[in-house]
Amino acid sequence: EKSGYDHYMLKEIHEQPASLNQTIHGRFDPTDESITLDDFEPGEFSDISRVEFVACGTSYHAALYGCHLLGQRGIPAYAHRAGEYASNPMPVDDETLVIGVTQSGETADTLESLRRLEDTPARTLALTNVIGSTAARETDDVLYIRAGPEIGVAATKTFSSQVTALALLSERLHRDITGEPSAHSSGLLQSLGALPEQIESILDSDPTAELTRKYQGMDAHFFIGRGIAHPVALEGALKFKEITYEHAEGFAAGQLKHGPLALVTPNTVVIAVFTGDHDEKTLNNVREVQARGASVIGIAPEDATEVAATVDDLIPIPSSTPELNGLLANVQLQLLSYHFANRLERSIDKPRNLAKSVTVE
Ligand code: F6R
Repeated sequence: EKSGYDHYMLKEIHEQPASLNQTIHGRFDPTDESITLDDFEPGEFSDISRVEFVACGTSYHAALYGCHLLGQRGIPAYAHRAGEYASNPMPVDDETLVIGVTQSGETADTLESLRRLEDTPARTLALTNVIGSTAARETDDVLYIRAGPEIGVAATKTFSSQVTALALLSERLHRDITGEPSAHSSGLLQSLGALPEQIESILDSDPTAELTRKYQGMDAHFFIGRGIAHPVALEGALKFKEITYEHAEGFAAGQLKHGPLALVTPNTVVIAVFTGDHDEKTLNNVREVQARGASVIGIAPEDATEVAATVDDLIPIPSSTPELNGLLANVQLQLLSYHFANRLERSIDKPRNLAKSVTVE
C-alpha cells in the first residue's frame, strides 16, 4: 500500500529514516565504538587483503561508493560491472573478498559473476535485501541490508542501506585486518547515528520541486562529482534518466574537459555534487561549464559558502562527515528526479522497458 503517497517511489524515499535505522540496528554502539555485524566473529576477515565488487546499476554505484570507503581505510578495492565480469573475471586469491551487491539477490549478471568464482580460493559475500535469495544461498557469507521491501522499480532506500551497510563493513574489515579502528571510525559512527534525523530534515524541506519548473525543457542533464561524489553523480543520472526519460549522464567532474565538454551549451543543466572533499577542484569544473553558458545546480553541505556563491541554484544538505554527505546528497537527487518525472507525468513506479529484477544476462 502507498500509505497516502502518489507513488511507491516517493513512499520509499520517505521511508529512509526508518529503513536506515533498521540497517544499523544493533550493529554498532556509538559509546564504545564496537561494531557487531550479525554473526561475523571478530577477526573473521583478518586474512583479507583486497575487495572486489560485482554489481549492476544502482547496486554498482553503491559498490563504487564502497570502494572509496575501503580505500580511505587503506584496503584496496575495485568495483566491476557484473555484466562484464561474468564474461571477463579477474584473477583472485585466498585473500580476496568478492562482494556481490544486489538488492534483489536475483540479478542474472551478478549471480553469474559470483558463480565464476566457485572453483577459486576467493571468499564470496552477498550484500542483499532479500532473505533466502539466490545470491544469499550461493555465496559463502551474506550481510542483509534490512531496508524492507522495495516496490518501485527505481532503487532508492536500498541504495542508502547498501552504502550504510558497506560503511560498517569497511570499518569492520579495517579492524580485522589491522587490529584497530580506522582514523575515520568515531566520525563515521557518530554521524551514522545522526543520519536518519538528517534525512528527515531533508524530506521535511524538500526544496527541489521548485527547480523542476525553472529547468524544464533542457536538452541534457549532466551530473558531476569527484571522490565519493562521483558514484553519487552516476546514481543521480541513472535515476533521472530511468524515470524522466530525459537525457542524463553522470561524469567524474575532472573528466568533462576530456571530451564531454563539447556537448555543453546554454541548454545544458549541470548538477554538481559536493561532499566537503575536493570541492575546490569541482568548483573549477563548474566554472568551466558556466563559461560555456550552462546553468549549474549545486548540491552541497549547508556550510559550503564558496559553492553557494558560485552555483546558479543551491540545494543544501545538513552537514555530516564527507563520507556520509554523499548519502545525504543522494536523497536530494532522488527527490529532484522524482519531481521532474512527476511534472512530466511519467510512469514513475514502472518506467517503460524496465523491470525490478533483471533475470537474464
Ligand atoms: C536502478 C535499478 C537497477 C538495479 C539493478 C541491479 O534504479 O533499480 O539499476 O539497481 O538492476 O539490481 P539488484 O540490486 O537487484 O541486483
